[in-house]
Amino acid sequence: MAIQKTLSIIKPDATARNLTGAINARFEQAGLRIVAQKRLRLTLAQAAQFYAVHQERAFYNSLCEYMSSGPVVVQVLAGEDAVALNRQIMGATNPANAEVGTIRRDFGESIEHNSVHGSDSEENAQQEIAFFFSGLEIVE
Ligand code: CMP
Repeated sequence: MAIQKTLSIIKPDATARNLTGAINARFEQAGLRIVAQKRLRLTLAQAAQFYAVHQERAFYNSLCEYMSSGPVVVQVLAGEDAVALNRQIMGATNPANAEVGTIRRDFGESIEHNSVHGSDSEENAQQEIAFFFSGLEIVE
């Protein structure tokens, strides 16, 4: 498997609890490199655009409000098989179902306040990275 890039978001529940460094340590310990990173606060419209794929879901409005409720840290992670590796490090969407030692199990508070987002495919990773970053901001 070649070197891939994936988009990660450290969500408002995690930035509020000062967990950015602890979460970044999980990525780096697993061999992923943080090749771009910035802290920002999404507007409701930006969150709605980013999560548009979920617009028919019952949780969409709540998700968009939550994701614009406080600072997030958006980042590009690079490494061997990065999309799948990051999903393994994050654990299942619902922290209650995630394996011990994963970010969501150890830090997540609920299925919505689950501390991190990660791209679910290489194709989506490319789109999600382009949503937040220009090529100049990604330094491998
Ligand atoms: P994320 O990886 O950011 O992608 C979509 C998010 O929707 C997901 O993580 C969850 O935090 C959130 N979400 C909220 N409610 C649900 C639900 N019932 N099922 C799946 N995802 C949910």
